[in-house]
Amino acid sequence: MKDFVFYSPTQVVFGREGAEQVGALTAAFGGRKVLVHFGGGSAKRSGLLDRVCRSLEESGVAYMTFGGVKPNPRLSLVREGIRLGRQEGVDFLLAVGGGSVIDSAKAIAYGLAMEGDVWDLYSKKAQARACLPLGAVLTIAAAGSETSNSSVITNDDTGEKRGYTSDLCRCRFAVMDPSLTFTLPPYQTASGCTDIMMHMLERYFHPGGTASMAADSMTEALLRTMLVCSRRVMEQPEDYDARAEVMWTGSLAHNDLLQCGNGMRGDWACHQLEHELGGMYDVAHGAGLAAVWPAWARYVVDTDPGRFASFARQVMGVAETEDKTAALAGIAAFEAHLRSLGMPVNLTELLGRRISEEEVQKLAHGCSFQGKRTIGTLRPLDEADMAEIYRRAR
Ligand code: NZQ
Ligand code: ZN
Repeated sequence: MKDFVFYSPTQVVFGREGAEQVGALTAAFGGRKVLVHFGGGSAKRSGLLDRVCRSLEESGVAYMTFGGVKPNPRLSLVREGIRLGRQEGVDFLLAVGGGSVIDSAKAIAYGLAMEGDVWDLYSKKAQARACLPLGAVLTIAAAGSETSNSSVITNDDTGEKRGYTSDLCRCRFAVMDPSLTFTLPPYQTASGCTDIMMHMLERYFHPGGTASMAADSMTEALLRTMLVCSRRVMEQPEDYDARAEVMWTGSLAHNDLLQCGNGMRGDWACHQLEHELGGMYDVAHGAGLAAVWPAWARYVVDTDPGRFASFARQVMGVAETEDKTAALAGIAAFEAHLRSLGMPVNLTELLGRRISEEEVQKLAHGCSFQGKRTIGTLRPLDEADMAEIYRRAR
C-alpha cells in the first residue's frame, strides 16, 4: 500500500430534519453574515429554502439569499456573487442545492478571499491561499462536492469548463437528508447515480492495478450497492433507504477515501472528456460521462485487461475466466446498466444528433488545452486519442 494523507474534515449531518439544524451549525462554524446560495427554483418550490432561512433566524445568524445557479455553473454569476458578498460583508457561504450550487458557492468563497480574478484559479494561472468557510444542504446525490476538494465552473464568455482543486474549499458541514431528493426528475436521478459510479471507476482504473486491497474492496462493494440502489431509486423515487444508500455512497465516492493506498490518484480521463462536452453543449454532467465511458473503456482496455476483468467479475458478476473476454463482457454489462437507467451511452443519444468530424476535432483540441496536455493515467491520452474516443463515442 502506498503512503497517503487522508483529509476529510466535513461534518456530515445525515437524515431527516437536517435543515432545521443549519442555523446552529452555521453559527458553530463562525458564520455571522451568510450568503445563502441556491439554484433555479427547486429549493424554493420544495420549501427547503424557507426552512433553512428560518433556522438561521432562530440561531440569530444574519443572511441574504442569492439564487439563479444553473447546472454547469457560470462564472458570470460567481462574479456577481463576489461583488454582492463584498458589498454586504459576507463571512460564510451556505449552498442549498446540488453540485452546481456548491461549486458556485466555493468559487464565490475563493473570490471573496482573494484580490485578483477568481477565473485565474480555474485557468491555472494562480493558486488559492484562502477561502471563506462554507456549508452545504445537499438536494441531489451526484457530484460529491459536499465532501470533495474541487469545484468546476464554466466560463460563459469562452465556453471553457474548468475545475480547481484545493482542500481550502472543503465544506465545514454538509446536511444530507435523503428525502430532499424525492422530487428529482428521473433524468437527474440517473445522471447523479452515473456520476457517483464514475467517481469510483475513475479511481479504480489507475496505473499499477491493485495497490490497496482495502480500497479495491470498498470500491467494488460500493459499486455493487449503486448497481442495486440506482435501479431502486428509478423504480421507487420515494424509497427513503435506497435514496439514503445512494446519497451516502455519493459522498464516500468522492471524499478521497477510495483512493487511499493507491497513490491518491485516479484516471479522470472521462471527466476531462465530459467537461469539454459540458462547456460546449451544456449537458448534464452524469449523462455526458455515460456517453463517453463505453468508448473510453473499449479504447484503453488493452492497457490493463486484468483490471477490467476484476471489475467485470467483482462488480458486474461476469463468470468468464479469460481476462480480455471477461473485460469486454464487464464493459458491455455496465453499458447495459447505464442504458437501463435511461442514460445515453453515446454522443448521438446524448445530443440527439450525430456530431460532425469538425466538432470531434474541436472537442479534442479544447480538451487537450490546444494540444498542450494529455489526460488520463491508466493510459495517457493525447489530442489524437481524445479525438478518436469522441469519434468512437458518436
Ligand atoms: O436549479 P434547481 O432548480 O435546483 O434544479 C436542479 C438542476 O436543474 C435540479 N435539482 C437539484 N436538486 C433537486 C433538483 N430538482 C428537484 N428536486 C431536487 N431535490 O437538478 C439539476 C442538476 O443540479 P446540479 O447541481 O447541476 O447537479 P449535480 O449535483 O449533478 O452537479 C453537477 C455539477 O457538478 C460538477 C459537474 O461538472 C457539474 O457542473 N462536478 C463537481 C464535482 C466536485 N465539485 O467535486 C465533481 C464532479 O465530477 C462534477 O464535475
Ligand atoms: Zn463527476
